[in-house]
Amino acid sequence: MSKIRLNESGNVKLSELIATTLLLMCRRLISRYCHWRGTQAIFGMLVLACVLRGESGAGGANPKSLSETGLYSDFATKSIAKENLMYSPQYALWSDGAAKKRWVYLPPGATIDASDAENWVFPVGAKFWKEFTFGKRVETRIIEKTAPEKWSYQTYAWNEDQTDAFLVGANGSRNHCEIAEGIKHDIPGVNDCKVCHEGDGRDVILGFSALQLSPDRDSLAPHAEKFDSTMIDLNFLIAQGRLTNLADEFKTKPPRIQGKTPRERAALGYIWANCGGCHNADDPLASVGMELKLPLRPDSSGQDSALASVVGHPSKFKIPDNGEDPTYRILPGYPEHSSLIYRMQTRNPIRQMPPLGTKIVDQEAVDLISEWIREDLGK
Ligand code: HEC
Ligand code: HEC
Repeated sequence: MSKIRLNESGNVKLSELIATTLLLMCRRLISRYCHWRGTQAIFGMLVLACVLRGESGAGGANPKSLSETGLYSDFATKSIAKENLMYSPQYALWSDGAAKKRWVYLPPGATIDASDAENWVFPVGAKFWKEFTFGKRVETRIIEKTAPEKWSYQTYAWNEDQTDAFLVGANGSRNHCEIAEGIKHDIPGVNDCKVCHEGDGRDVILGFSALQLSPDRDSLAPHAEKFDSTMIDLNFLIAQGRLTNLADEFKTKPPRIQGKTPRERAALGYIWANCGGCHNADDPLASVGMELKLPLRPDSSGQDSALASVVGHPSKFKIPDNGEDPTYRILPGYPEHSSLIYRMQTRNPIRQMPPLGTKIVDQEAVDLISEWIREDLGK
């Protein structure tokens, strides 16, 4: 499988991001509609995508078993080593209903540069684990900072009897296990990890930031994960002296999405986490011109200007069968004429958003965001 090449500043190029998205779509089309005529065309697209993405290469030398990664102090009893701290982002990524657990390891004495509240810069040696459970543990993903501006990605697939988890190859494992009737979970390949995690020059961590760890937690966040006292948050990191350059305002007033209503806050928070990693002003997809990672300011001014790229903004993507009506990204009052909702509630592989990492619609989020468009924006 090909590997995304990095440009001079070490980031994924836009052409490669699009090529990867194309490749993903092809793979899913093949598995869904695997009849001969379609397959020929798809095969052509696949070759093109591979050429665009450059030559092959696999991940580096990584432990073969999860037990060797330092997550556990005792693998048999699944006891987590005490230096690995559990946390939960207030706005989680939707992964088809998987329950998740996450841990972070920070080398002793090392600090995180929090000058940019939403793009923290981590010390070399920082390590993150994320465990996915669909009834049973299915995979545990790892991201590690191995050198300045260098990250490694791995995932470990659990065996049936949950006694061990083994390193998955760089291509991932498609249709790994059934998670709903007729729907199988894909374990992503390393290139897929990069499509979501890597941006323009920033560190790659998405769910460990001032907003995500804010003690001012949003109880209306879709699938809100319970925060408990065994987890760390922003206050813990401040108290432990783990953050440098964090803006003073966040020390006294924890960051929050400035919604005009509680529903708006939750809707924007969901979009921030699930869409903003790709749709923002800085990353390779900036040219799409849609800012869903809203800037954090004490008032809502930054948010309002970012939202102007979405609310009442014409959409390049057209909703099929939308009659004579032009499509807007969000048409206030009308979720059914908003391409943002259309693309969240389809799993047509070419149209769905996000383009990877999910095969089941997040109905709770679609309902919340539709209500926000209808009720809050429609007034
Ligand atoms: C569809 C986009 C997407 C894909 C594909 C993806 N991730 Fe993530 N990942 C996220 C988002 C968003 C978060 C933060 C929110 C959360 O944890 O729920 C995250 C969180 C994580 C975390 C916790 C640290 C962090 O960044 O917050 C780890 C570890 C992780 N992912 C590893 C991986 C690995 C390894 C792969 C590939 C095998 C991968 N991810 C593929 C979007 C993605
Ligand atoms: C992994 C990166 C990625 C993520 C995450 C992602 N998108 Fe996208 N999105 C794209 C790409 C690439 C395009 C441009 C190509 C296309 O339209 O398919 C796009 C285009 C769009 C468009 C069309 C804009 C226009 O004017 O044509 C909408 C609407 C959209 N995305 C909504 C969302 C929503 C809502 C989410 C979160 C639920 C989301 N996206 C998450 C990659 C992403």
